[in-house]
Amino acid sequence: MISTPPLSAGQFFNTSDGRFQSVYLDSPHSFSGLEGQDVIEGLTQAPKVLPPKYFYDDRGSQLFEQICGLPEYYPTRTEAWILQHYAPEIAEITGPCQLIELGSGSSTKTRLLLDAYQAQGYPLYYQPIDVSAGMLADSAAQLLTDYPTLQVQALVGTYDQALTALPPASAPRLLLFLGSSLGNFTPLECDQFFAQVTTVLEPGDYFLLGIDLQKDRAILEAAYNDHQGVTAAFNVNMLAHLNYRFAGNFNLEAFHHQAIYNPGDCQIEMYLHCRQPQSVRLKALDLSLDLARGDSIRTEISRKFNLEHMQGYLQAQGLSPLLTWVDSQHWFGMILCRL
Ligand code: AVJ
Repeated sequence: MISTPPLSAGQFFNTSDGRFQSVYLDSPHSFSGLEGQDVIEGLTQAPKVLPPKYFYDDRGSQLFEQICGLPEYYPTRTEAWILQHYAPEIAEITGPCQLIELGSGSSTKTRLLLDAYQAQGYPLYYQPIDVSAGMLADSAAQLLTDYPTLQVQALVGTYDQALTALPPASAPRLLLFLGSSLGNFTPLECDQFFAQVTTVLEPGDYFLLGIDLQKDRAILEAAYNDHQGVTAAFNVNMLAHLNYRFAGNFNLEAFHHQAIYNPGDCQIEMYLHCRQPQSVRLKALDLSLDLARGDSIRTEISRKFNLEHMQGYLQAQGLSPLLTWVDSQHWFGMILCRL
């Protein structure tokens, strides 16, 4: 574990050998008192919603790692299978480039790409981006040990903060957006995301997207309602995070996890249902709300995509699909694009 000194926004530190740097990105909201504005907006609208980024405090990131290993949760191992088979092809196509990853988490699947770039003899440079500083520090430390020539610049912050602050590149970039994290975005948020991505990337840069595909409802619902209850714990942990972060008093025991497929919008929807009336106060946000028995908060949408539609959509956004891969069951897809 790299001992990370307490840092505030905009600060960074380097390891002595110069292979690691960690940058805490400025929150545009932390100074203006707007941090948590999205929580206020989400909880005062009908239906109540919360942004999925609040899943990922250090504990939530660990729970998500556990989800990735669950028997019901097929996306991680399916995407890993695709990368195992096609990472060498990806490295060959892009040539040497800087790897940037949005929502890098444990970077486990990224290792398959690093292996492929290393096998080609390319220099290894990696910029993982994550809101969990603890997860970033731990995975960077492991990567630096396992890849002796790797250079890491870890960016602590949201996608938006990172894309706004991304330092200029000295080589072509490969931006990774894996695990179907795109599924958390509404169609409008997708448009805004790709507008930002195509502004930040330069002609000749690459974009690698992993997306979960439409499939039988029973398989989807099982993946988000696992038997061990890890997904339920992950869902409820968002409220623990909000309690900690905004001095709140959500009664965690009074919430019940539900994940259900909405076939009209082709998305899994995750909810926290309130089992008993409670008065919630988030002191740091000066927010009070009364929840009745049966009230619910939607914490996540996870859209399931159609591969051909996505190829056309990416093309329309200015990213040209070069190659597409799927597993044998067509459960998960990966699209490599170039700007
Ligand atoms: C990280 C957004 C891709 O939607 O499958 C997993 C998050 N939520 N189980 C997903 C998640 C519940 C995951 N993404």
